[in-house]
Amino acid sequence: MAYDLVVIGSGPGGYVCAVKAAQLGLKVAVVEKRATYGGTCLNIGCIPSKALLHASEMFAHAAHGMDALGVEVSAPKLNLEKMMAHKDATVKSNVDGVSFLFKKNKIDGFIGTGRIVSAGKVSVTGDDGKVQELEAKNIVIATGSDVAGIPGVNVEIDEKVIISSTGGIALEKVPAHLIVVGGGVIGMELGSVWSRLGAKVTVVEYLDKLLGGMDGDVSKQFQRMMAKQGMDIRTDAKVTGVEKTANGAKVTYEPVKGGDAQTLEADVVLIATGRKPYTAGLGLEEAGVKLDNRGRVEIDGHFKTNVDGIYAIGDVVRGPMLAHKAEDEGVAIAEIIAGQHGHVNYDVIPGVVYTQPEVASVGKTEEELKAAGIAYKVGKFPFTANGRARAMLATDGFVKILADKDTDRVLGGHIVGFGAGEMIHEIAVLMEFGGSSEDLGRTCHAHPTMSEAVKEAALATFFKPIHM
Ligand code: NAI
Repeated sequence: MAYDLVVIGSGPGGYVCAVKAAQLGLKVAVVEKRATYGGTCLNIGCIPSKALLHASEMFAHAAHGMDALGVEVSAPKLNLEKMMAHKDATVKSNVDGVSFLFKKNKIDGFIGTGRIVSAGKVSVTGDDGKVQELEAKNIVIATGSDVAGIPGVNVEIDEKVIISSTGGIALEKVPAHLIVVGGGVIGMELGSVWSRLGAKVTVVEYLDKLLGGMDGDVSKQFQRMMAKQGMDIRTDAKVTGVEKTANGAKVTYEPVKGGDAQTLEADVVLIATGRKPYTAGLGLEEAGVKLDNRGRVEIDGHFKTNVDGIYAIGDVVRGPMLAHKAEDEGVAIAEIIAGQHGHVNYDVIPGVVYTQPEVASVGKTEEELKAAGIAYKVGKFPFTANGRARAMLATDGFVKILADKDTDRVLGGHIVGFGAGEMIHEIAVLMEFGGSSEDLGRTCHAHPTMSEAVKEAALATFFKPIHM
């Protein structure tokens, strides 16, 4: 079969690329190894974790959050099986949605392992061992990433006692004690799920703060809030060993600043120390496709590898490992292949941590601006001074805006607070249009909304906030 484009991998990068290319009139095929489309994100990542984050938040809210509002309920009872069934149903409706989009756009889907035979040729090996060959004018590698494990430490993940995020969304009972290795995004999201459902959660993090890449003020506030929610957080702690024991597992860590090694025991240990590009079995070496020094497929500014007709996007290439970054790259490469001018603005890619409260960020952090020697001004506004937040008892957190000192152009926005992941987008749109903090501060915001704190932070950046 001959195609204009064969996409390998059907995660947010791959399936969005396929849909966009088909919309632009190309004949498209997608090869997917998993039985269902949607990749890590839809099957075992973003989507199922959000189903559990929402459900566990409802559970915690019913237990602790309603009394102060005058809603007295008896202690909620957990039905974990039903919660998991909700998660599975959410996954199913999303992966079915991708199949629907393929049919609607006349995209041929092939379930099997894709391998690049050479530029222009992809083979698909099905579960039954049967091999099909597809002719492809263009090939897009969108194979995503896999669990990286702990650098330099030999850990055997069995997904029952020593788990990755995959096991972390499928535990059959709430662990009494969960140790989370790595206080990054996965660790803090899944740690939150099990903490809300009753587990004692200990987070062991190598850096001196949680959510390493985030703005320093955000990390600090976040750590305080997570500790207040009952998590035992140990930073400056390098995990050097994780072993199974008779009753669970043992974690050994060394204080980064020196001192004796410590051990902790728990019934379950979550390894959340990053992900690595997934290129195994793709035939890249034989096809002559170059990888960079971190095992990622090397691409130029237009997603092209060193081999003509072969492109790559998403977690398998440089940049943040985020579903929406992959989606935007998928759209851009489809446009480029169709003869248009696809482009991704890497300066405006929001990042959200779906804890409660949420953390959301776009653009530069204060630390990055300092390191780059850019003169900036800062405006901050706390939710304690926001009427809607008070009414909802959601006053934890703040909005922080960073703008160029001379031009007032907004360079970064950071929000810790209820609904931060939705509020961040007005800052993203403003930044796409090169807007200033004055533009944002003079934009009328509906009252009473949480978003008024974004406006007030902008007012604080170029002059003074009204409500503080
Ligand atoms: P991460 O890179 O966010 O965090 C890993 C953490 O592990 C780091 O803080 C690191 O310092 C720590 N670490 C590494 N070695 C260690 C050791 N020996 N001892 C103690 N700590 C150690 O990676 P994570 O959370 O596994 O997520 C993987 C990728 O998936 C990330 O790129 C993340 O952005 C993405 N993701 C995004 C989500 C979102 O946008 N909401 C949700 C889940 C994942």
